[in-house]
Amino acid sequence: MKKQNLVFLHGFPFNGSSWDPQVQFFKDKVEVYAPDLRGHRNGPDGPGPWMIQHYVEDLKTFFDKNKISNAVVCGLSMGGYVALNFAHAYPNLIKGLVLCDTQAGADSNEAKDKRFATIQKIQRNGIGPFAQEFTKNVVSETTMFEKPEVLKQIASMIVGNKPENLMMVLGALASRPDCTPYLAEFDFPSLVMVGSDDKITPPELSKKLAEGIKSAKVHILDRAGHHSNLEQPDAFNGQLEKFLGSVFG
Ligand code: MLT
Repeated sequence: MKKQNLVFLHGFPFNGSSWDPQVQFFKDKVEVYAPDLRGHRNGPDGPGPWMIQHYVEDLKTFFDKNKISNAVVCGLSMGGYVALNFAHAYPNLIKGLVLCDTQAGADSNEAKDKRFATIQKIQRNGIGPFAQEFTKNVVSETTMFEKPEVLKQIASMIVGNKPENLMMVLGALASRPDCTPYLAEFDFPSLVMVGSDDKITPPELSKKLAEGIKSAKVHILDRAGHHSNLEQPDAFNGQLEKFLGSVFG
């Protein structure tokens, strides 16, 4: 499978290291990339406002810089939002799409209000309390009680970000478009995966997403929450390997 490209897009507010278990597993089989996205760790930043389209253009620049002519793009949550918008803007660069713990819809008014409340909390209290609360929300009970090392990794990725960047990312998430109308255009192999205990983008949203894409099937990862690739890496890698085998041959 060498020389086929696999590009991982992380969720908010993590970074490329959240794909370490996948990078380790796939690095001898394909060319693997796991960039830090805008506003996260070493990703692009600079003056805002930012919109999801900035993430799409950042990714196009990344493909050009690394001479990637096409790739399987695998995005988790925010990474999935970027993947959906990128696939819409640059379908010829997509060999396959893997959408994990994500959704096609835009934020509801209630979700936008929550983003605003989060911005205010970060402004008032800094990243520490936000990181504590967010970490609890993105994992299953199994992870919470049996995998302290995963909790530690998640919390440390969150606190490694600059507060002003996270606030601008929240604005980009709140203003992202509804991608539901794009799904019918997607003409490449697709896989949708979700943790059985994902509280942020629960399995029903993944089922809805997969119904919109001709080729997509849903795989539910047991005992995983929203950060399914870190919580159940063996099951995640197994499903992804099967999918890559079917795409790359
Ligand atoms: C993520 O994990 O990327 C975020 O939870 C996405 C979101 O807040 O919509």
